Amino acid sequence: MNFKITLCLLLAALCFVSAEDKKEEKNDEKKEEKQEQNKDEKKDEKTEEKKNITTYIPDYITPCDVMKDFDSCVKKQIEISLPHFTKGIPELGVPSIDPVDLDNIKIDGNGLKLLFTEAKMLGLSSAKLSDFKINLLEEKFSLSFRVNITVAAKYVVDGQILILPIKGKGDAVVKARNIEVFIKSKVNVMNESDGQHLKLNTPSYTYKIEKTTFKFQNLFNGNKQLSDATHQFANENWKQIMDDLAPPAVKQIVRTTIRNINKFFAKVTVPQIMIGYDELRRSNSTN
Ligand SMILES: *[C@@H]1O[C@H](CO)[C@@H](O)[C@H](O)[C@H]1NC(C)=O
Ligand SMILES: *[C@@H]1O[C@H](CO)[C@@H](O)[C@H](O)[C@H]1NC(C)=O
Ligand SMILES: *[C@@H]1O[C@H](CO)[C@@H](O)[C@H](O)[C@H]1NC(C)=O
Repeated sequence: MNFKITLCLLLAALCFVSAEDKKEEKNDEKKEEKQEQNKDEKKDEKTEEKKNITTYIPDYITPCDVMKDFDSCVKKQIEISLPHFTKGIPELGVPSIDPVDLDNIKIDGNGLKLLFTEAKMLGLSSAKLSDFKINLLEEKFSLSFRVNITVAAKYVVDGQILILPIKGKGDAVVKARNIEVFIKSKVNVMNESDGQHLKLNTPSYTYKIEKTTFKFQNLFNGNKQLSDATHQFANENWKQIMDDLAPPAVKQIVRTTIRNINKFFAKVTVPQIMIGYDELRRSNSTN
């Protein structure tokens, strides 16, 4: 069999989400009973309340067996859990990733000074997975997804974009359609006191963007004619503008994604999300 261990990181998210959904789960005794991981826990309400959230895995997460139909199992898990992935869990210190506050974005070059402050990025929660692979033996992890992102911010601009003057100050909305982000990372198995955990290290990424539109309120002190002309020009030449704007935003997308995955991995042990990893590792090292 091929040793490609594809594992749903997004079921990760489910665990986090499960923290939010805990109340609902608690009220559903039958669901709880199905949970192998929690078999030895007492079932009365009080105990449930105090349940150690770090080991809590909702019953809709089924560990996939590396030896049995692994790829299709993982794919199914991803489909189930993807919608929950992005919500974040305050209780576990996992930030919501929709919206995400962005650091200030500053462009100063090519005759253009543009500053975005108080920027918020919206839309990550509707990301659609396009590919996901994890291979623990080779320590390889890859993830790609598509997402429509809106960035809302305060802007100050002065100078020119390409050939057209631009000047103004106010609210800006930048919409990027179908950003596709490809992340590759090393994935390591860490031995911790409570068992083995996965951790992503030294991620790298690339991306592409289908289309971007800009809306700057109050350009040229509200002069509509100048503003319309500049918008039209900016929207036609979005690629050049995004050469400067996109990198900091995408960097933040990737950083947020990696951080949340690692927070999840820190909370669950390998056996909780994957069956047969030890055997696989052993059989591999004896070969
Ligand atoms: C919860 O579980 C973690 C890891 O399994 C352990 O380190 C921690 O002590 C536990 N906390 C409680 C309150 O049981
Ligand atoms: C982004 O929006 C476009 C048009 O509104 C839509 O066709 C596309 O499926 C969306 N992409 C994602 C990843 O949701
Ligand atoms: C973790 O422990 C396993 C044995 O359980 C060992 O084979 C492996 O080398 C250890 N990994 C690290 C990074 O220490």
